[in-house]
Amino acid sequence: MRANQFTDITYEEFRELPPKAKAGFFNVAHRPYHTLVAQQFDRTMLDRLSLLATQIRRIAKSKTGMHFLNQMLEHRRVMLYFSQPSSRTFLSFYAACQILGLKVAEVRDTSTSSEMKGESPEDTVRTFSSYFDLLIMRTPQQGFAEKMAWILSHTERPVPIINAGSGKDQHPTQALLDIYTLQRSFEKTGGIDGKTVVFVGDLARGRTVRSLSCLLTNYNNVVQHFVTAEPLQIGQDVLDELNAKDVTYHVSNDFEAIIPEADAIYMTRIQDEWDQIPGESGTIDISAYAFRKEHLTKLKINAVLMHPLPRRKEIATEVDSDPRAVYWRQVRNGMWIRVALIASTFGVDTQIDEYAKLNLA
Ligand code: CP
Repeated sequence: MRANQFTDITYEEFRELPPKAKAGFFNVAHRPYHTLVAQQFDRTMLDRLSLLATQIRRIAKSKTGMHFLNQMLEHRRVMLYFSQPSSRTFLSFYAACQILGLKVAEVRDTSTSSEMKGESPEDTVRTFSSYFDLLIMRTPQQGFAEKMAWILSHTERPVPIINAGSGKDQHPTQALLDIYTLQRSFEKTGGIDGKTVVFVGDLARGRTVRSLSCLLTNYNNVVQHFVTAEPLQIGQDVLDELNAKDVTYHVSNDFEAIIPEADAIYMTRIQDEWDQIPGESGTIDISAYAFRKEHLTKLKINAVLMHPLPRRKEIATEVDSDPRAVYWRQVRNGMWIRVALIASTFGVDTQIDEYAKLNLA
């Protein structure tokens, strides 16, 4: 599968497009080629990836099934370029690549690359594209993965790029695993449609919240609540997108009041790595935005408590054993949805369908 070429648009024109308008450059034949923004996914694609992830995890249960998966992309190589810290995203991508047989290389510390000699990140990534068939990257720079997709499309090696977290704006694969977790959690209670989802914590700088809020707009009648202290409230650009799609949302600072209404509560930590002055967000009183053991009695019986992790004190560890706490399931689901995403990126997902049809009861 080859990418749509960005040949008829300059980078300056492309950069100014709204995220939804960029999607036409990222998807090919209704599959993600580049995975860069949450806005490129519609309901059909989300349902497809979730179904595929479930098929893959069932196939992987047997040794013969795992051998089938292991040979699918054994002729391909992938670079994991993470210039920001990560545990889950890095390791789940690493494991996902191993499941599909991809050979993995990594740069996690730019002090070990020629960036230390003054090479630009753009030239660094172009170098990776000379050796690898897929680039998965996490960067502090908003829009950098998109920029590289545009630049590489004008070279002889326009390899696919997956955004594993960019600046404060996007974390599309986290949102995919969150949707997969919600879908599995609500399988017996009518799916995601009609549910009330409450976002709590650092909504101003949390890229997971921004991407998930966007993906939830693909479902009918989902109500979104943004609950936090004023300085950490959700950005107007997210609300503008919800207004444009006629999505019902509420912005407030009363966490206790909203707990009984929630079908899903999505807690997040303070993202103080983005502080302009080190330690400045430490002065914000966030004590009211933590989920404690006593809150469990207020939570609906079929609700779920989520967190992209890492956590600090937003969720008490005493809550972990409650069946409604699904954040460790999110961690595991992240690996399977990333296997599905990579298989789709390389267009081998139909082979998985065939295998499942023949071998799964
Ligand atoms: N959720 C998430 O992105 O975790 P990591 O930063 O550990 O990858």
